[in-house]
Amino acid sequence: MVNAWLPYQTLGCRLWARSAFYQSGGAFGFRDQLQDALSLTLLAPERAREQILFHARHQFVEGDVLHWWHPPDSRGMRTRFADDLLWLPYLAATYVRATGDHAVLDEPARFLEGRPLAAGEDEAYLIPEPAGTSAGVYEHAARAIDRSLAVGEHGLPLFGCGDWNDGMNRVGRAGRGESVWMGWFLVALLGDWADFAVRRGERSRAARWRAHRGALTRALETQAWDGEWYLRGWYDDGAPLGSRDSDECRIDALVQAWSVLAGSAPRERSEQAMAAVDRMLVSESEGLIRLLAPPFQDTPRDPGYIKGYVAGVRENGGQYTHAALWVVRAFAELGRRDRAAALLGMLSPIRHAGDAAAVRRYQVEPYVVAADVYGVAPHVGRGGWTWYTGSSGWMYRVAIESVLGVRVEGGLALVVQPCIPDEWPGFRVDWRVPGAEGTHVEIVVRNPDACSESVRSATLDGRPLAVADGAARSPLPRDGARHRIEVVLGAAAPVRS
Ligand code: GLC
Repeated sequence: MVNAWLPYQTLGCRLWARSAFYQSGGAFGFRDQLQDALSLTLLAPERAREQILFHARHQFVEGDVLHWWHPPDSRGMRTRFADDLLWLPYLAATYVRATGDHAVLDEPARFLEGRPLAAGEDEAYLIPEPAGTSAGVYEHAARAIDRSLAVGEHGLPLFGCGDWNDGMNRVGRAGRGESVWMGWFLVALLGDWADFAVRRGERSRAARWRAHRGALTRALETQAWDGEWYLRGWYDDGAPLGSRDSDECRIDALVQAWSVLAGSAPRERSEQAMAAVDRMLVSESEGLIRLLAPPFQDTPRDPGYIKGYVAGVRENGGQYTHAALWVVRAFAELGRRDRAAALLGMLSPIRHAGDAAAVRRYQVEPYVVAADVYGVAPHVGRGGWTWYTGSSGWMYRVAIESVLGVRVEGGLALVVQPCIPDEWPGFRVDWRVPGAEGTHVEIVVRNPDACSESVRSATLDGRPLAVADGAARSPLPRDGARHRIEVVLGAAAPVRS
């Protein structure tokens, strides 16, 4: 899956064809293809760079973006989705952190012009015009951020006509509802962007973004903590969504996982929130990680078109694999080596077709990821929409970065920090370094004591490497030669007092 099918699904289906049996669309989605391309950073960083520039060219002068569009005219949808525009800064930061390619932030891209949405109008299908102005990617991203700083009554971002969960398009339609997930999403990207602003001498933006990050962090803890997990948001009328007091959608995995990924929540709270996910949304007997529970069905509330899906299908309480992978990533970031690989394995399509009974239940291809797996009887475990799903890219990233723990920092350092189960004897990664013809790095990780808590020692071509905070750090070779990194895992060294 990791060496072949996941990148193939991402590149062939998601980026090139943008089409499959379940959705023969052909459109580019603003958030979707950016995430897809960025998942291939270790294999083809130039692909990620091109995608960043391409999406920047699909942003309006005002900072909002096309939700999706079709070539060649870029005819598409102008909407009030709250998050779309922010995937540009989020993923550009991810790309810059991995590659060190700060120059991308200065690459010029032109804006679009188009008819603004009228008051009360949720979306418009239009052919935009190229604007007379262009700016560097930095300014594109900065406009997206500056446009996303409005908050509601609880100090958290407005839900607009939906956030990452497209189906929740009426939670905040009147302009008052708030999205807790958007709070985490902004916290996750504002730190990097404040740093970029400082590097460019943009002091007032840096100060504004830092202050906003601080305010969101406080509001998340004082307003959004529901006692055992985080709320999903508030409706326009102030009623909570995703609360223990809710009739349906009592808990939503998205916000619990992102409390970890954003990196600002107190550890005890994130642990408690993820324990609730494990208890209420992960089902090992059914082989599923549900997005939320219970599904929307009878509630008098109107969260949006999500409620139109049959209970247990797609975002409405099925396994929505894209978010299920964020759950696995969150477990890994909490250092839960007992959970991360086990859950990733559970999500692998191969596991859903291991014997005749499983094949009869799952019913879809076992070699590509399915966007959803149904979560309510009589269809529990049945695969839904295969191929055309952003979860292939995230499954790849979670496998490589979160579980095997291999990542590149600033284009200069290769970091190895595995989160594998104690029972694994180790693993080996062979990596051809992109953009450095002939450079081949073999990473061999061994776990001789059946305890994978921490990296104990590491070498590059036999010479010792620095080990700090449980991670091995090596210069990234680019010299066209073959290299070997050896990493030995073991119990974490006792903390010296
Ligand atoms: C679909 C959409 C994606 C959205 C997700 C969750 O995969 O293409 O943009 O974020 O569903 O609703």
